[in-house]
Amino acid sequence: MSFPPPVLKFPPASLAGEWWKDRILCGDAREILASLPVESIHLAITSPPYNVGLEYDSHNDRMPYADYLRWLSTFWREIHRVLVPGGRFALNVAPTSIKDFRPVHYDMARDLMTLGFIMRAEILWYKQTMRRRTAWGSWKSPANPHVIPSWEYVLVFSKGSWSLPGDKAAADITAEEFIQFSDAFWPIAPEGRGRQPFLKSLYPPRRGRKAPEQKTEGHPAPFPEELIYRLIKFYSYRNNVVLDPFGGTGTVAAVAARTRRHFVHLDLSEKYCAVAAERVRRGCAQQHFDDLLAPQPKPPPPPPAQNSSAEPKKRGRPRKHPAL
Ligand SMILES: C[S@@+](CC[C@H](N)C(=O)[O-])C[C@H]1O[C@@H](n2cnc3c(N)ncnc32)[C@H](O)[C@@H]1O
Repeated sequence: MSFPPPVLKFPPASLAGEWWKDRILCGDAREILASLPVESIHLAITSPPYNVGLEYDSHNDRMPYADYLRWLSTFWREIHRVLVPGGRFALNVAPTSIKDFRPVHYDMARDLMTLGFIMRAEILWYKQTMRRRTAWGSWKSPANPHVIPSWEYVLVFSKGSWSLPGDKAAADITAEEFIQFSDAFWPIAPEGRGRQPFLKSLYPPRRGRKAPEQKTEGHPAPFPEELIYRLIKFYSYRNNVVLDPFGGTGTVAAVAARTRRHFVHLDLSEKYCAVAAERVRRGCAQQHFDDLLAPQPKPPPPPPAQNSSAEPKKRGRPRKHPAL
């Protein structure tokens, strides 16, 4: 991989060779996907625009619902084409709207299965956001109370087969991680400003407008790295190719590079592509995740205990990945 990863404006001068691999590709993902070779991607992870009127840099996030689903299906079709047999597609989708609830995750799952995807899992990303709730509906009355989703879904699909062939030696998930990630309830805090400090200075809020709470400045919906780390480690082998067709600020690309996978990042916005390139560059200038996990030299043995009332070892949840 060459660094810094170049932002390639689509279409490039030449489509020869692996022009798309380990690249931040700036352009319409539909056109770029159509130019990728068939069966070239092992894992696609994405969070599409939710069509809820968010302020993206270059995208209209307010389409009629049926048009929105049709628009997305054009991407889903291409993702199916570029996945290898057994390749996976992890789709992050949030329940939208509380008063006019729309089961958008059902609609997308239906469309994907109609296109031939096998639905294999539904992961609950529990965001623990209930402290910030404001909409109760009919307060203390059954007249019309509202429930608030404090989670998002990650719907996972396979192409053609449940199994993904790969070299056993390239499976790099630890036993501790496997046990933790195979419980489909993933409590992970949403991305906050403190976690991506380099983004802070890039995009101040528009004049006169208050920046929304808890959202990373510059992009309305970035992934937390831990969510992507889990998906990549659980569903792909080292050296696999990981795609995000709506890559935004490059969380998937950055985590893929740091877990020794290849990445393909697509986004319409030049601004977000520049942020993504910088994230990948910075991430790779640090350590790879598995270097952080490498066995450390053993500390010298402790002095013999004076009495037998030493505290028992604490047991608890498997610890978080040290890099997150
Ligand atoms: C929900 S955000 C993705 C955020 C990303 N997961 C992250 O961690 O930053 C959706 C992204 O899709 C991009 N987008 C919208 N329409 C697109 C299109 N036709 N082609 C490529 N990207 C598009 C937007 O610019 C936005 O960055």
